[in-house]
Amino acid sequence: MPGIVVIGAQWGDEGKGKATDQLGDRVDYTVRYSGGNNAGHTLVVNGEKYALHLLPSGILNDSVPVIANGVVIDLEVLFEEIDGLNARGVDTSKLIISANAHIIAPYHKVIDKVTERFLGNRRIGTTGRGIGPAYSDKINRLGIRVQDLFDEKILRQKVEASLEQKNHLLVKVYNRRAIDATQVADELLGHAERLRPMVADVTRVLNTALDADKVVLFEGAQAHHLDVDHGTYPYVTSSNPIAGGACTGSGVGPTRINRVIGIAKAYTTRVGEGPFPTELLDADGDKLRTDGAEFGTTTGRNRRCGWFDALVVEASATANACTDIFLTKLDILTGWEKIPVCVAYDVNGVRTDTLPLTQTEFHHAVPVYEYLDGWTEDISGCRSFEELPANTQAYVRRLEELVGCRISGIGVGPSREQVVMLHDLL
Ligand code: GDP
Ligand code: IMO
Ligand code: MG
Repeated sequence: MPGIVVIGAQWGDEGKGKATDQLGDRVDYTVRYSGGNNAGHTLVVNGEKYALHLLPSGILNDSVPVIANGVVIDLEVLFEEIDGLNARGVDTSKLIISANAHIIAPYHKVIDKVTERFLGNRRIGTTGRGIGPAYSDKINRLGIRVQDLFDEKILRQKVEASLEQKNHLLVKVYNRRAIDATQVADELLGHAERLRPMVADVTRVLNTALDADKVVLFEGAQAHHLDVDHGTYPYVTSSNPIAGGACTGSGVGPTRINRVIGIAKAYTTRVGEGPFPTELLDADGDKLRTDGAEFGTTTGRNRRCGWFDALVVEASATANACTDIFLTKLDILTGWEKIPVCVAYDVNGVRTDTLPLTQTEFHHAVPVYEYLDGWTEDISGCRSFEELPANTQAYVRRLEELVGCRISGIGVGPSREQVVMLHDLL
């Protein structure tokens, strides 16, 4: 009953889409369990580039794509994404969606944007997709769920209840116009008919599949350090992208998960605000950004770039009980004479080998680097570990040692076939 979870081990955009795609047709179900269209997962298949925001990467192979209860869904984005894929000849007819998943309503997007503006220099740097406000409503018990779209009376009541407080806030605090509940409800109801056939008891489907020894792959979005409980709070997203989130976000018990694959970039990137000790604000950072094409898939923002931070990935590997690490974008590091790797922090003169306890210390952390030898050879055509230059091999082995988890796969380019596998992921 293989239940496999793929998680981001840094601050997102590690290449989770590509890593998920590696398991390809051996997977029976690919499940998104958290986040929404704040995610942007890029896959390059047969020379064609696909950017997925809401649909699981399994939409591009033969597995059943699943959007589980832990996801928040912007229905307009969902149908746009489906239509876009259909126009490119991708079959999306097997997609199933949980009746308990929450809906991102138009007012969530408005509130996301005005809140960020109001916060000024304390802003989070959200994607502006309404993610935080939709999850807030869920926790506040004011959310709209997929199933509510099939009971018009209930839907209208719930939208009204949800907007009552928000309109006071919008008008009196943010000086904006009130949002009309009838209009919102009409808009949501307009999607009901198309959505209806996709809705299923996802929890039962997945548990039955696991009972039958099917392979269920849970595709994490965001990352451990963006997790609302475990990340660099408050500079986080509003959900639980960690491996445990696959259980709450889909309704499968922890004993069903027997593999957790942490995806880590061979360096580090981050979008939005928040602490990032190894960030490079100089020409080296610009070089990583240019070489790695580090511009957001979702918002097009420049990604902040820096060296590999072993403390960050070690913390993820530990808290998620990672069985494997998939190291991506190693090809981007080609050409550096020395490659710094952060092995500890100096926090106000005290050395620490693990992440500091408090946010204040994290903000004050100065990286302690070890300088590994670089390589100049093009590694994008390598398909086995032995083919990699000796210094590249040594870089991988040192990261493995620092992170305390075996590296089972290495990305050497964006395409599906550009990988070096050391251990099977299944
Ligand atoms: P995700 O959000 O974790 O799925 O990652 P993104 O798709 O946002 O960002 C990763 C980017 O790196 C995408 O453009 C991928 O096509 C690309 N990518 C993934 N793995 C590799 C790799 O090994 N080498 C290179 N050069 N690019 C990669
Ligand atoms: P994938 O799945 C990188 C970041 C945002 C912001 C913070 C909160 O592609 O790795 P939100 O809109 O979620 O309330 O924003 O989280 N963020 C991501 N950064 N990759 C992502 O997804 C992200 N999803 C959210 O930039 O800092
Ligand atoms: Mg991404």
